[in-house]
Amino acid sequence: MAWERTFVMLKPDTVQRGLAGEVLARFERKGLRVAALKLISVSQEQASRHYAVHEGKPFYEGLVQYIRSSPVVAMVLEGPDVITQVRALVGATRPNEAAPGTIRGDFGLDISNNLVHASDSNENAAFEIGVYFSEAEIVSYERDSDKWLAS
Ligand code: CDP
Ligand code: MG
Repeated sequence: MAWERTFVMLKPDTVQRGLAGEVLARFERKGLRVAALKLISVSQEQASRHYAVHEGKPFYEGLVQYIRSSPVVAMVLEGPDVITQVRALVGATRPNEAAPGTIRGDFGLDISNNLVHASDSNENAAFEIGVYFSEAEIVSYERDSDKWLAS
């Protein structure tokens, strides 16, 4: 199966709680390949583009405020069926519904501090990658291990 890309963000609570390495390690251990990675403060423009889909919802203002409240780690991950694979590792949106073993199930208590954003479709992944990364920041490469992970 072809390797695809997704956009993942370790939200402010993950960075503030010192869990960024632990969460990234889960993606690495799964076998996913990091194509881009950076610590940033999300701008108002990036937040409103990223979350335009939620504009008008009751949690929208709080969500934009939260995502801009402290630095985040933004990344592009690659793998076969990567959107589904990453969302399975992340778990349900509400941490109290997320299965143990998932990131939100293991580390989260509350929906407004649910640790990770992960794209939910190829189309949204392409859009969200473009909100946070330039083409030049995304690195194409192969690892020797790739052939042992998927054929
Ligand atoms: O992140 P995910 O795709 O699982 O959920 P979403 O429905 O796309 O919502 C985006 C984000 O908005 C969530 O991850 C939460 O951080 C936030 N949210 C919230 O604070 N309260 C809600 N009732 C729903 C979502
Ligand atoms: Mg979503």
